[in-house]
Amino acid sequence: VDAVVSAADLGRAREVVARHLAPTPLVRVEVPGFAAPTYLKLETVQPTGSFKVRGALASCSAYGDEGTPIVTASAGNHGLGVAYASRALGVAATIFVPTTASPAKLAGLQAGGADVRTVGDDFDQAERAALAYAAESGGRFVSAYADPQVIAGQSTVLAEVVEQLPGDLRVVVPVGGGGLCAGTAVAAGAASRDVAVHGVEATASMAVSAAMRAGRTVEVEVAPTLADGLAGNLEDGAGTPAILADHDVTMSAVSERQIRSGIRSLAFGYGVVAEGSAAVGLAAVQAGQVPADRPTVLFVTGRNIAGPTLCEILATSAT
Ligand SMILES: Cc1ncc(COP(=O)(O)O)c(C=O)c1O
Repeated sequence: VDAVVSAADLGRAREVVARHLAPTPLVRVEVPGFAAPTYLKLETVQPTGSFKVRGALASCSAYGDEGTPIVTASAGNHGLGVAYASRALGVAATIFVPTTASPAKLAGLQAGGADVRTVGDDFDQAERAALAYAAESGGRFVSAYADPQVIAGQSTVLAEVVEQLPGDLRVVVPVGGGGLCAGTAVAAGAASRDVAVHGVEATASMAVSAAMRAGRTVEVEVAPTLADGLAGNLEDGAGTPAILADHDVTMSAVSERQIRSGIRSLAFGYGVVAEGSAAVGLAAVQAGQVPADRPTVLFVTGRNIAGPTLCEILATSAT
């Protein structure tokens, strides 16, 4: 299927995800000004509040068999996923998060009883601490986005969509480290019909598109963003940009104003509470960045937004 992710990896991920999680709903919606039939794939209903639990189950299952403790770094949702998966599968895990992680996510992590260490001001620093700890403790570092088993786990979103919806389609996928989009691209390549993949970044943090252009990981500037799950640089040599490029994934990016508008529309238009990272697909459609030439599925990837942040966005009139 791919140099990084094998067909066997996809099959194993499908199996462990199906054993622990119900398929998430696919809901038909009307998007004003967008002519194509449109659907929301609601990963917001996952037990941990985001799709990340899929890659966590797949990686904890694959590596848990080896008996090595898992070490990971996460802005929040991957950490919540690993906490859930380690408990569900009985695998030991240590999770490094930056002190700046969303309070909603930190509270959820600590409630889960996982070994959580808060280190550094941003994701990049937490990731460096996790890598160092894995090296000294003999644990296995599991990248939140570049690990092959995590990518295989994330591929199960599209595997479900393909069963829920017939015909050619386009899926619109939020891109942070690119693990979800890589899994989606690999699964799209393996599908028996034409599935176009469009990735969406926040303009505040564009590491994957920069690496796709440069042909290697390059350091980018990262600004504060409502899409906290998409923010951060890539590990050296992360394979996700190459997977996206090899599978002809198209890319665009949305501003903070567009993300706010996406969050508002999901809440008031469709009754969906979504965090900033999950609203970038609808924001891209609303901004005219996605062609309307075929049925379109927007991956609404998570709901873990802090209450005060959501209230402030909903209380502000649209601009
Ligand atoms: C809600 C949400 N959507 C999308 C993403 C992006 O996933 P990836 O880093 O695999 O690109 C994340 C990552 O944390 C996330 O939390």
